[in-house]
Amino acid sequence: MSKQLNYMSPVLNGNIKVPGDKSISHRAVMFGAMAQGKTEVTGFLAGEDCLRTIDCFRQLGVQITQDGGHVTVESEGMNAWREPAEVLYTGNSGTTTRLMLGILAGTGFHSIMTGDASIGKRPMNRVLNPLREMGADIRGREGGQYTPVAVQGKTLKAIEYTMPVASAQVKSAILLAALNAEGTTTIIEPVPSRNHTEIMLQTFGVQLSQEDSKIEISGDQQLKTANVEVPGDISSAAFMIGAALVAEGSDITIEQMGTNPTRTGILDVIKAMGADFELVERDGAGEPSADMTIRYSKLVGTEIGGAVIPRLIDEIPLLALVATQAEGTTVIKDAEELRVKETDRIDAVVTELKKLGADIEATTDGMVINGPTKLNGAKLASYGDHRLGMMAAVAALITDGPVEIDDVECIAVSYPNFFEQLESMIR
Ligand code: S3P
Repeated sequence: MSKQLNYMSPVLNGNIKVPGDKSISHRAVMFGAMAQGKTEVTGFLAGEDCLRTIDCFRQLGVQITQDGGHVTVESEGMNAWREPAEVLYTGNSGTTTRLMLGILAGTGFHSIMTGDASIGKRPMNRVLNPLREMGADIRGREGGQYTPVAVQGKTLKAIEYTMPVASAQVKSAILLAALNAEGTTTIIEPVPSRNHTEIMLQTFGVQLSQEDSKIEISGDQQLKTANVEVPGDISSAAFMIGAALVAEGSDITIEQMGTNPTRTGILDVIKAMGADFELVERDGAGEPSADMTIRYSKLVGTEIGGAVIPRLIDEIPLLALVATQAEGTTVIKDAEELRVKETDRIDAVVTELKKLGADIEATTDGMVINGPTKLNGAKLASYGDHRLGMMAAVAALITDGPVEIDDVECIAVSYPNFFEQLESMIR
């Protein structure tokens, strides 16, 4: 389904609470399924990706009820899971596919996983390589590069692994496999990536140690049930932050947004660009969160690269759009990981923003944007990528003419009520 947007210089005002964090929602269901007993999750993201995680565990015999953001997981523990009779379908979700590989590798049964066309193009060998070193028996297309993948659960052994790329999905898959491995596994990260797995495993009673870039975890640990309160997803909030920054006169507040420091790279970047915003910390269980007030701002270009990249990797499409409105040059580098996301986000962002008249060029590991540029209307493609679809919708707030976006349904992967919330703030 395509959608035509004709916002005509809107001003955004109001308060919203964006949907729950996608990374934390996946993990809450997974860890609840691994623990013996009942786990309650509030603030769960009922988006397509996290619903696929629920489906997969139901197929393993775990009892899960989901009513909007409230999820109850009842499990007799991993040893009671049953061999799935059908293929596990992970849809568009890289997190489901890669973390489940780590979990399934150490079970006693056989399983097969596959996803949509985008998942079928995303590299799985980055997870298979360390898991195979642990003794995992996993087969996939092209030597294990791509889904469908077949996993024959095995007894695993601990490894010491230096990760070649900063990836929370790879790190998490190894950590989860390590729980079923004999011995102590050591993981060394090149640059810190999001640490939701480490935080939540400890909430579920698992012991692990962390020193600088090194994480150690011993096997044969049982998870204990816990209740999880999921904060708003800063990666979804990013689109509203970007909307307020570019739509003249805007002033909005985003309530209870997750502010885990491994995720707040976008805040550092917009601060350097001159954004006018404040954070008021919230009390609460679990991960840190805050209410963020953000206003339309005159921005300047900046350089985005190095260790901040994993802390804002999913926000780069939105930041590229914002940079088209900033005075001067913005350089995004060290972000080659964008090429293996839901789509090649370097080529896709550059192609689509050019259609709007932006001055933007792709590089091998990022992009260079000169601004400010007045944007025109155009017909844009989402590539079936939720974050590309939302970038296009935010752009429509400031284009001269209408923007038409194809396949907008994909936005439901992470932000099912995106248009409703965006349009609720238009004055
Ligand atoms: C995620 C990790 C990141 C991120 C993705 C979610 C996670 O991927 O882009 O949206 O939940 O662990 P990588 O691990 O591939 O960097």
